[in-house]
Amino acid sequence: MNIEAIKERVSVKAFNDLTSLIEESRIIGLGTGSTVKYFIREFLRSRLCRGKIIVVSSIDTLLFVRKYSKDLCLADISSVEIVDIYVDGADEVSSNRDLVKGRGAAFLREKMIALRAQYRVYLVDYSKYNEKNYLYKKPVPVEVTIHALPWILEKLSLNDQFKPVLRMGKAKDGPIISDNGNVIIDLYPLKPIEKPDEVDKRLRLINGVIETGIFPRDLVDRVYIGYEDRIKVLKGTR
Ligand code: A5P
Repeated sequence: MNIEAIKERVSVKAFNDLTSLIEESRIIGLGTGSTVKYFIREFLRSRLCRGKIIVVSSIDTLLFVRKYSKDLCLADISSVEIVDIYVDGADEVSSNRDLVKGRGAAFLREKMIALRAQYRVYLVDYSKYNEKNYLYKKPVPVEVTIHALPWILEKLSLNDQFKPVLRMGKAKDGPIISDNGNVIIDLYPLKPIEKPDEVDKRLRLINGVIETGIFPRDLVDRVYIGYEDRIKVLKGTR
């Protein structure tokens, strides 16, 4: 089974498991990326999307949703207090349910939605699960304001936990610009991140840092991990 088929299977399973929760929900948050798109497709093909308010986390997800249906009620995260359920992908998952997200540079709004969501579900294939109780594999992205970029890069290059690399554009000279008009620095871990919540807080204290791609386990209620022959589910206490 190829990786796309695994992503699809994990998304269909999550959609089926979450049917009654989605039925009871009024406001649904949708993440960004290739895995959650399979879930979004299931959701939009079903009758369950009728009458819901949908909060999208990126321009990419907005365009994907609009391609399926033009008459859905879409809202920006700024206009809702609470999201009933949020579904997204991730880049790295530890056995403690801590996550790294942000390969697609959408993590600022993804985290805004996750923070306001009552229940948060993430869908990944097995290559994202590190089977350790710490994070170490993927760079931690931080979204920073352009106005602070030189001194944030200088400050981050002095620490011994990460190697900072400014994320560059592919069809653009210079750094990529996020959906929110900021730039992204990828922090390559030089040692395991054993206390992701503390690292997340510490990074956010740097003036000019807006958000990090660390999603501590408090923001993670359930993770579906797809393998060739099975689906593993990591669950929090709820
Ligand atoms: C978007 O910025 C990311 O947080 C994605 O949710 C994450 O990279 C997972 O994407 P894939 O499902 O495409 O791997």
